Amino acid sequence: QTLDMQIEALEKEGYDHFMLKEIYEQPRTIRDAMRGRISSKESRVALRGMEEFANRFVRANRIIIVACGTSYHSGLIGEYLIEDLARIPVEVEYASEFRYRNPILSEGDIVIALSQSGETADTLAALELAKKKGAMIYGIVNAVGSSIARLTDAGSYIHAGPEIGVASTKAFTGQVTVLTLLALSLARKLSTISNTYFQTLVRELELIPEKVEEILKENDHIKYIAGEVKDHHNALYLGRGYNFPVALEGALKLKEISYVHAEGYPAAEMKHGPIALIDENMPVYVTATNKSAYDKIVSNVQEVVARKGRVIAIVNKGEKAIAGIADHVIEIPSTEEPLTPLLSVIPMQLLSYHVAVELGKNVDQPRNLAKSVTVE
Ligand code: G6P
Repeated sequence: QTLDMQIEALEKEGYDHFMLKEIYEQPRTIRDAMRGRISSKESRVALRGMEEFANRFVRANRIIIVACGTSYHSGLIGEYLIEDLARIPVEVEYASEFRYRNPILSEGDIVIALSQSGETADTLAALELAKKKGAMIYGIVNAVGSSIARLTDAGSYIHAGPEIGVASTKAFTGQVTVLTLLALSLARKLSTISNTYFQTLVRELELIPEKVEEILKENDHIKYIAGEVKDHHNALYLGRGYNFPVALEGALKLKEISYVHAEGYPAAEMKHGPIALIDENMPVYVTATNKSAYDKIVSNVQEVVARKGRVIAIVNKGEKAIAGIADHVIEIPSTEEPLTPLLSVIPMQLLSYHVAVELGKNVDQPRNLAKSVTVE
């Protein structure tokens, strides 16, 4: 027992929990997910697994992404990325739904499974079904040699290293990084974005790890905010566009480890229901780092403030409009819009972590949850 505890302490490398260690590893793991696959000097992005099947990818009728949990949320970001940059239609489905609803699939379809463990029973079964129906199957997986990695026709590892904390953090950003590379390389092949924009995105993507490092320096401030909000029993997460899936992921992180009820919503949907819940006991986390929808988010925030909701806003450095009306503001470096999820998710991971710690919960092994769900 004591030896086990000593080994565990060593593995945590001085951090109190695996989750915190894994959050802090992200500058490195994002870099590892890009290693050898991107070069702004050579204006090049390439995923070897995809290159092998490049013809099928560029001619694909449709890409269907199947996943569960956090991986499903990175899948949604993948949809926004691939449709926005490469103009290939994408659908994202919970693997458990896909496998039982007699989905329409043909040979021109590519099914991509996203999975940290590579062992999730529903995701594996969804892939088996897709293979049987003649679709090409591709894996974006962390665990090397896992069942999903072995079943797929091709794939790309995210190279995040072992993830121990049940709440996924570095696997999420690793998946989003690989999906960004996939979208960029398809966009290049299909000439769906200009060379200049391609080059800008590649250069900005290379800068993401150091920007994540900058956000991690906000840890003490985020911990302070966690202390302020920890006693509320509900929370609402709002975001638009690329930040909508991030809102879903922020809410999931809070639920998983602190057992606080939280929901993620597209900011504009608030008026179709959740606004009825807003009062002084409802913290509302708003991610407002999208330049394109900034004014619209400002008016969403005003609606929350008018109903006495407590706003915690994640904004780009120097943004004034929201900072003036929110209760708490977390400033993060700006980037190109398709890359914002890689930055805006970091404060949410830290916030959930600190709320759970403040509430005395078992951060690395939350009740009722498993790291990898290998049964239905
Ligand atoms: C479990 C884990 C989650 C994970 C999900 C999907 O619910 O607790 O953290 O996101 O499974 O797992 P996968 O390994 O397929 O990404």
